[in-house]
Amino acid sequence: MKINETVEKALNEQINRELYSAYLYLAMAAYLDDLNLPGAAHWMRIQAQEEIGHAMKLYDYVVERRGRVVLEGIAKPPAEWGSITDVFESALKHEEEITSHINNLVDLAQEEGDHATVSMLKWFVDEQVEEEDSVDTILQKLKYLGEDGRSLIILDRELAQRQG
Ligand code: FEO
Repeated sequence: MKINETVEKALNEQINRELYSAYLYLAMAAYLDDLNLPGAAHWMRIQAQEEIGHAMKLYDYVVERRGRVVLEGIAKPPAEWGSITDVFESALKHEEEITSHINNLVDLAQEEGDHATVSMLKWFVDEQVEEEDSVDTILQKLKYLGEDGRSLIILDRELAQRQG
């Protein structure tokens, strides 16, 4: 069944949010590169790629349901944060907001009786649990280790190991 206009519009808005997420994480990578934390910057670059993957998953789904993908402008992300801890705190807050949007999308798809979209969104519901957990794990390590030079070098080496 062709996707209805209400769900199509809401999924297009989510495509924009995922692309903004990529842009936000790339901005965080640039800030971390500037702090000379290449491992943390690498982690954020991989995260930016993942967000493009999320956008494309929604894009492909809209096409599959004979809908129309309409791209809007992507908002300018911040350029400055207070510290690496501030970066990961902002990332966690952002992911929590994305989780709320995904939950709202599920509610909408249910209200519209669109079972296929509810089923597709299950992947995103599960993914958000992982996304929040991975950012929170790094945040907790930052809080335990502190931000002295030696701790940051250890954490930065660990973050450099993230695979795409
Ligand atoms: Fe696409 Fe990080 O949620």
